[in-house]
Amino acid sequence: MKHLFPTEIPDPVAMRNFGIELGRHLKSGDVLALVGDLGAGKTHITQGIAEYFGYLHEVTSPTFALVNEYITEVEKSDLIHFDLYRLEKSEDLLEIGWEDYLERDAILIVEWADRFPELMPNGTKCVFIEHLEQGRKLSYDLV
Ligand SMILES: Nc1ncnc2c1ncn2[C@@H]1O[C@H](COP(=O)(O)OP(=O)(O)OP(=O)(O)O)[C@@H](O)[C@H]1O
Ligand SMILES: [Mg+2]
Repeated sequence: MKHLFPTEIPDPVAMRNFGIELGRHLKSGDVLALVGDLGAGKTHITQGIAEYFGYLHEVTSPTFALVNEYITEVEKSDLIHFDLYRLEKSEDLLEIGWEDYLERDAILIVEWADRFPELMPNGTKCVFIEHLEQGRKLSYDLV
């Protein structure tokens, strides 16, 4: 699936629904980069993905924890959710075990992945989010 044409998403509920739809295109071993400013809606997309994978608990930005793991019940791919906003340098990401996470049988969802593009593997799927006056504009490349 490749879709670089922009899509407009009018509100937070639709953002979450986009995440549910996106979940259908993800499988274990995938890395998904969510790229957009503060408050763009990255976590809302992640909530939709978690819902698609049958994770029934709350999903929030792991801003302080840096990483949250969601053990899902239905679709059998665990999700690992990163928020790299507070990391200063790529060494910090390596220090929390990034390379080990890449080896995990899970889907990695990475808010602020654009801070450390050099550490994102080939084949990373990306969703770019821009603020509109109302709603958000998304462009994505899921090949
Ligand atoms: N498509 C949308 N249209 C309008 N508002 C939205 C949309 N998506 C999300 N929001 C709103 O934007 C705010 C931020 O959402 P969210 O926490 O998902 O963003 P984020 O990109 O994860 O932020 P952060 O960079 O702080 O982690 C929330 O108040 C949410 O309701
Ligand atoms: Mg967030």
